[in-house]
Amino acid sequence: MTAQIIDGKAFAATVREKVAGHVARLKDEHGITPGLAVVLVGEDPASQVYVRSKGKQTVEVGMNSFEHKLDADTSEKDLLALIDKLNNDPQVHGILVQLPLPGHLNEDLVINAIDPSKDVDGFHISNVGLLGTGQKSMVPCTPLGCLMMLRDHHGSLSGLDAVVIGRSNIVGKPMAQLLLGDSCTVTIAHSRTKDLPDVVRRADIVVAAVGRAEMVPGDWIKPGATVIDVGINRIDALEKGEGKTRLVGDVQFDSAVKVAGAITPVPGGVGPMTIACLLANTLTACCRANG
Ligand code: GUN
Repeated sequence: MTAQIIDGKAFAATVREKVAGHVARLKDEHGITPGLAVVLVGEDPASQVYVRSKGKQTVEVGMNSFEHKLDADTSEKDLLALIDKLNNDPQVHGILVQLPLPGHLNEDLVINAIDPSKDVDGFHISNVGLLGTGQKSMVPCTPLGCLMMLRDHHGSLSGLDAVVIGRSNIVGKPMAQLLLGDSCTVTIAHSRTKDLPDVVRRADIVVAAVGRAEMVPGDWIKPGATVIDVGINRIDALEKGEGKTRLVGDVQFDSAVKVAGAITPVPGGVGPMTIACLLANTLTACCRANG
């Protein structure tokens, strides 16, 4: 038996289509165009790729995209002044500051300077608190995309044992909150977890978000479990004689696909859903701002 492949690329295309339909109606009926501002500080190559992709897809669904590229040595004062300007710009409904920021900038301070109603990343402490208490909030895009795929596959998640591997503020912690909100029994595992293989083997749902290439082998997976692989790791493929790099997840796909009931591939799983959810969050922020 091999697992069903959860096609995040196709799912993301349906989310973008729905967003584009709403955006067209907002324009026709109310003359409003949602706008997303993305701020990139410095020249991190991976961040540049993500930001370009976000800008392109924003425009493709009919929204306005405002890109702000700042030098790596931009001062905190100047960055905060830009965020203040965007907070007060009625054309801007969503603000995303691409992380990581250069070391001299305080990420917490910068994120918490964003107007929570425009915080389409869901990283502001108000949104974190609202999510943790089950109130309406902006939900971080990657965990939201994972949840949508899980709901689509399972219908109800109620009572299922879920293990989230990784405790980051961007993925692990909000993912656990979302699964708890859907009545899963949730374990957050991390680098200090004892007997990680046994913890993972108990899970009906495994969300791997550690950023370590292929660290979860197939024999950790309970037969029939659903595996959501958030990792996007670029590894040297030289050992395979290919002479180039390739992308792999945090899960050993080839062994896990033989055991799991369903699994997301890398690439083509969680990644495309993240940007689709960013667009959906921007639309949500625009609708809330306009009543
Ligand atoms: N860097 C890596 N993932 C993310 C994300 O989801 N949002 C932002 N702002 N930066 C990131």
